[in-house]
Amino acid sequence: TTIHVLNGPNLNLLGTREPGLYGTETLADVEARCALLCARLGLDLVFRQSNHEGRLVDWLQEIGAAVRTGDCVGAVLNPGAYTHTSVAIRDAIAGAEVPVVELHLTNVHAREEFRHHSYVSPVARGVVVGLGTRGYELAIRSFVDDPAEA
Ligand code: DQA
Repeated sequence: TTIHVLNGPNLNLLGTREPGLYGTETLADVEARCALLCARLGLDLVFRQSNHEGRLVDWLQEIGAAVRTGDCVGAVLNPGAYTHTSVAIRDAIAGAEVPVVELHLTNVHAREEFRHHSYVSPVARGVVVGLGTRGYELAIRSFVDDPAEA
């Protein structure tokens, strides 16, 4: 079975983007660590990034369909700035019934006021916030029954 990790706008710049906030690890580094973990957990990993809201919507709809056929467990989603703006992403998650764990590298609640509201959180099964890149592995583990075994 497959798990998807979706990353929204500007996360392709990870490693060089405001490293004081987001760290120096690149998205490729994060993907490599997620791939190692997924191999141990027996999950097929699809790890993607887009700067385009509609592409993220398309992917979420596809994931919803794959979840319905039992081919996929769900998605870890870092929607980037779309977290705070996108009704379309929220509606895709709700409409396609995608089990989503929302993830933010930084503690958005400790940052600017405009980052405190998420359109995604009410339709997410859980939220990982402020734990840096290690959050991705924690979020992936939340989809398996007994992560202590891996
Ligand atoms: C982010 C937080 C968002 O507010 C911001 O727009 C991002 C990254 C995070 O991972 O901390 O692009 O989602």
